[in-house]
Amino acid sequence: MTSSSTDFKLLAAQVEALTSERLHWVTTLANTSALLAQELNGINWVGFYLAGDFVDASLPADELVLGPFQGKVACTRIPWGKGVCGTAAQLNRTMRIDDVHSFAGHIACDIASASEIVVPLHAKGRVVGVLDIDSPLPARFDETDQADFELIAGIVENALLVAPAT
Ligand code: SME
Repeated sequence: MTSSSTDFKLLAAQVEALTSERLHWVTTLANTSALLAQELNGINWVGFYLAGDFVDASLPADELVLGPFQGKVACTRIPWGKGVCGTAAQLNRTMRIDDVHSFAGHIACDIASASEIVVPLHAKGRVVGVLDIDSPLPARFDETDQADFELIAGIVENALLVAPAT
């Protein structure tokens, strides 16, 4: 199954609109996760993990911390290089996992999850977080989805460093 029933052109325009409001990234990511949860079919979790030091200088740079999301309560800290999310962050590449149970080190937050895609987010020339999407369906995400989510992530990351309008 793919997300072919999703109009990605429209979705990209909606994400663009959400990210163009010059709001703090917490606000932008909160609404973006809500939009993605609303518009994507066959998913059970969608949201963001962010590099600790991107969120707050007092947090470790070698951990991802939970950001805005939609879905079940999730693990709050993921070491850089661990799990699907930490691996995507460390390798700076999208991880598309057809069967999460066959991925050594997968971190199960929702036991319903069967497949997952994680796309790195960049700012200041480095990885500052990831977009994580889980599905209860095996092999839910295909190459087209990957390209579409990488496009969405590119729009989102443009908004990460925006100084909020007063
Ligand atoms: N499965 C992820 C953890 C985050 S949850 O899916 C929301 C991982 O292995 O990194």
